[in-house]
Amino acid sequence: MADTPDTEYPSPLRRLGTRLKQKLPGNGNGGRPRSLRYAHLIGWGKYLPEKVLTNAEIAQIVGTSDEWIVARTGIRERRIAAEHESTATMALSAAREALETADLNPADLDLIIVATASPDHIFPATACLVQDTLGAVNAGAFDLSAACTGWIYGLSLAAQAIATGSLDHALVIGAETMSRMVNWEDRETCILFGDGAGAVVLGPSRKPGGVLSSVLGADGSGGDMLSVPAGGSRMPASPETVSNHLHTIHMDGRKVFRFATRVIRQAAIEAVEKAGLTMDDIALLIPHQANSRIIQSAARGLKLPAERIFVNLDRYGNTSAASIPIALCEALEEGRVEPGDRLVTVGFGAGLTWGAAVIEWMAKPPLERPWRSRLRSVLYALAGVRSRLRRWWRQLETWLFRPPAARP
Ligand code: ACO
Repeated sequence: MADTPDTEYPSPLRRLGTRLKQKLPGNGNGGRPRSLRYAHLIGWGKYLPEKVLTNAEIAQIVGTSDEWIVARTGIRERRIAAEHESTATMALSAAREALETADLNPADLDLIIVATASPDHIFPATACLVQDTLGAVNAGAFDLSAACTGWIYGLSLAAQAIATGSLDHALVIGAETMSRMVNWEDRETCILFGDGAGAVVLGPSRKPGGVLSSVLGADGSGGDMLSVPAGGSRMPASPETVSNHLHTIHMDGRKVFRFATRVIRQAAIEAVEKAGLTMDDIALLIPHQANSRIIQSAARGLKLPAERIFVNLDRYGNTSAASIPIALCEALEEGRVEPGDRLVTVGFGAGLTWGAAVIEWMAKPPLERPWRSRLRSVLYALAGVRSRLRRWWRQLETWLFRPPAARP
């Protein structure tokens, strides 16, 4: 493992050396697996749209009230993306912040995963839009569809790829524009969701820590409990699907509630045991922010006091795949996570899917490096130029090099 940096924050020169060595046969991507190493979370960032939609404002649209929503869900307000914003633009903002805290340049990334249930398009992947705008020229990119559990699925995959040595730096984003997926006439769903994005950067280290364990689960027999019925190959878009609101979220809230309370507890316990720990070793539980009653029920089952559970759904509602990385960022901002702390992140969602990951937090607060931040701003501007040049070049190619006509 000579080519793996020992330090958590390798210098830019050392990273360049690492990258060059990876180009040699037998090293890095495509080479033999390196000996044991750990996937640390080295960068984090979030983005929340400015517009706040309160319960009182929703009560002017559908038959509900602030009292009902707060009592049944714990949600007081949520953020709504502006017209010019989309899942990709919010993912990009969170990604830039995560690269900033990691002090990495976009070209250092080997992989970008965007976990989302509200991608910009069916294809191209939102992750590819982020890759292009960031200028992450060395990264593979794909979207991950596991609804609210998506970010945990992505974290688990990226951590394992780093631990085995198949890549070094991965950006795992959870980003959602749920406000465009709900039926604003359905009071059971429109009160729940909000928009936003959270991202982390994972990198390799020889120091034990980082992602210690993860468990993933699925049960497709419950797929109909939470779905967007139309818009795929089974029910393509038509005037009927649009007028019947079949492109919006359909949910059996009570069934989802029962499933969630059971699965959060189980998944958290499994992940903690897999890491060789007990619940007493856990400093903070960061659950998917769907409903405060679901979180309280899980907390009772896990015998965790309120101060060891992070909750911010009162301000953002359910931001689906973005909820856990946003909550992680806020827990860090509020000083609720210290180096050496062990955290459990746990999620559930449509599919049905669920998952949990135990993380030993190793990152120290990021240092201010103004000239490196300025360099990154220049790189982002150049990424825009590069993208435009590539489009022009492709256009030019199609004019200049017409394919030969087919022979009769
Ligand atoms: N305002 C006022 N009344 C309402 C509202 C509302 N917004 N919504 C429903 N009601 C009414 C119902 O019509 C019902 O009336 P009825 O008794 O006359 O029939 C009554 O309130 C009780 O309805 P319930 O469905 O039993 O209410 P419940 O306490 O279960 O709360 C809720 C509903 C909040 C949806 C809850 O079931 C829940 O949070 N479920 C989990 C949902 C979830 O987490 N989904 C996201 C999964 S993650 C993902 O992958 C996207």
